[in-house]
Amino acid sequence: MKGIFPTGKFKNLQTPFYFYDTELLRETIRTAVAEAAKYNYHIHYAVKANANPQILGIIRESGLGADCVSGGEIQAALNAGFPADKIVFAGVGKADREINLGLDNDIFCFNAESIPELEVINELAESKGKTARVALRINPEVDAHTHHHITTGTKENKFGINLDQLDAVLDTLQSLASVRLIGLHFHIGSQLTEMEPFRMLCSRVNELQQKLADRNIRVEHINFGGGLGIDYDHPDEQLIPDFKEYFELFHTHFPAYPDQQIHFEPGRSIVGQCGSLISKVLYVKEGSVKKFVILDAGFTELIRPALYDAHHEIENLSSEEPGEIYDVVGPICESSDCFAKQIELNKTDRGDLIAIRSAGAYGEIMASQYNCRRLPEAYFSDLL
Ligand SMILES: Cc1ncc(COP(=O)(O)O)c(C=O)c1O
Repeated sequence: MKGIFPTGKFKNLQTPFYFYDTELLRETIRTAVAEAAKYNYHIHYAVKANANPQILGIIRESGLGADCVSGGEIQAALNAGFPADKIVFAGVGKADREINLGLDNDIFCFNAESIPELEVINELAESKGKTARVALRINPEVDAHTHHHITTGTKENKFGINLDQLDAVLDTLQSLASVRLIGLHFHIGSQLTEMEPFRMLCSRVNELQQKLADRNIRVEHINFGGGLGIDYDHPDEQLIPDFKEYFELFHTHFPAYPDQQIHFEPGRSIVGQCGSLISKVLYVKEGSVKKFVILDAGFTELIRPALYDAHHEIENLSSEEPGEIYDVVGPICESSDCFAKQIELNKTDRGDLIAIRSAGAYGEIMASQYNCRRLPEAYFSDLL
């Protein structure tokens, strides 16, 4: 699918860089918004997936809220113009200054993960004469069947309040006058490619609503988090994830109270497919048992393969010659700096442009300057 890249316009740009297809991003958002609107569901984009200011600007224009996991993300969302009353703040370790930032800006909700955190939010809110809206992030004990580094909803994980601790948390809340419980929050993991864990999440939340009802508690908001996966293996076959199936599943399996507001926090599914990492081939090195394509991009620009053994499709944008088998690696002084092993690419030479696909989520935002490298530029299809 070389056709989707304006390679002529890439010639004078310094590699490596991120390239974002803004039309695809807009189309993805339109689809997500239209499918969610069928059920009056609210979407808060998970800023952690990509906080590039232009990307945030496009997402904000479409009316989505922002899901943040740090003070820095709250600030990035505010800078991009997200209204504070559409910002939610999760995270297992919120620092006092981050909580204060949220309180000072009257963000919509703190997704609280423990009793000590609730106590600190209460204390800080009280000192400002405010009442903080909180949702309890519950660990629903649902296995997301995804990579162990990105599964979050089981007892073993550091995230959330475990089900057997919920009563104690609710008891504590009664003594905290400066926090108001408005909802429940869940996030079971990322890059879920099966729908079954989401269905299990729904039944868990149904049970929990019942448990709360037994204590005469009825929350106004349920937040199901993010996690919808994208097709890394065949990006062109499914450029836009199946939001229809996703939201329909929640509608079918989670009967909300009539006045209850339902929220989601997709990150990857919104921005994943619109971004590619564009790199140049520095060398083709013939080893004694294999050939290496050595790129000028490494895990400093896209860490997912090194961190999660993640697969990204790789294309040679400069060659139409018959395929050969290569390991595609970066220049970083670590053996883990490898994008793919023994894959077929059109015969590759020094200077060829390479696209690493599906890099819009957890790519640029996780870039580092390890080895004293510069952070790469980002370019946008409508601005080139
Ligand atoms: C609390 C929370 N919400 C939303 C997300 C976004 O997840 P995804 O990018 O898989 O949609 C994450 C990511 O891990 C998260 O931790």
